[in-house]
Amino acid sequence: MRKYGVIGYPLGHTFSPQIHNPAFKALGIEATYEVYQIQPDKFNETVTGLKAGQCSGFNVTVPYKQKVIPFIDEIDPVAQRVNAVNTIKKADGKWYGYNTDLFGFLFPIENYLKNIKSVLIIGAGGAANAVCFALLDSANIKHMTIANRTIENANALKNSLDKTYNTEIETTSLEHESDKKYELVVNTTSVGMGQTQNQNPYNLLNSYTDKTVVYDLIYNPEKTELLKQAELFKLKAINGLDMLIAQAAKSFFIWTGKEFPNHVIDKRIFYK
Ligand code: ATR
Repeated sequence: MRKYGVIGYPLGHTFSPQIHNPAFKALGIEATYEVYQIQPDKFNETVTGLKAGQCSGFNVTVPYKQKVIPFIDEIDPVAQRVNAVNTIKKADGKWYGYNTDLFGFLFPIENYLKNIKSVLIIGAGGAANAVCFALLDSANIKHMTIANRTIENANALKNSLDKTYNTEIETTSLEHESDKKYELVVNTTSVGMGQTQNQNPYNLLNSYTDKTVVYDLIYNPEKTELLKQAELFKLKAINGLDMLIAQAAKSFFIWTGKEFPNHVIDKRIFYK
């Protein structure tokens, strides 16, 4: 029996076991997927213990995607580029690190990418970093605005992005509403879930055209305030569920070499 799991903290609401376990079963793979919630002060010893144990691979989530890197023997170029690992595979006694978040993020907007020239990124943390790299690498972006509560963090993200991109990047604080129009707006902050469920991180009012796609990485609630506003303006609104499933499917492929059986996912489980 092979063992997989997710490490992170806190992990109370993770859906990953409900994605991977039915998939293993459907394909007749003898494996289990478990949750390893690791307290921050126990991180090093627990990961060392897991490495020595029977596990064949892990997902890594907040807040450990960077912290896990020193434990890995070889890191693939995508993970190296964003300095974050969300998938680990053990093979021939070595640990290999990958990042499937970029693939997962792009999957739901694949068909829109070629028309996206101007983007607004809300937030400037780890998720924003991955989103910026994914977009700059995969689309012909002419203009990017990074809007964040703390302008210093937006500037730091801007400075970390490759200067060789032919993209104008501007930073702004969240309250300052831009008068630019965007073909894609992405919320990478946690504003819209949990205690901020009733808040909208950004007022779209002056920033959209009838072609604007609004993408919130939050998947619970199903419709954040931002997505409700997008629908009010009759815009294409995408939540984070398809990204969650797509990044998991890619991890599954890395571990098993098999395509993820999409039919095992009943999306209603996420909203019960
Ligand atoms: P992640 O790795 O999930 O992106 P993170 O690195 O902690 O998490 O980044 C969280 C992002 O959400 C940041 O852009 C943060 O803004 P600050 O840089 O000002 O901290 C943003 N964020 C979190 N809570 C917020 C809130 N209540 N209002 C506005 N922005 C918030």
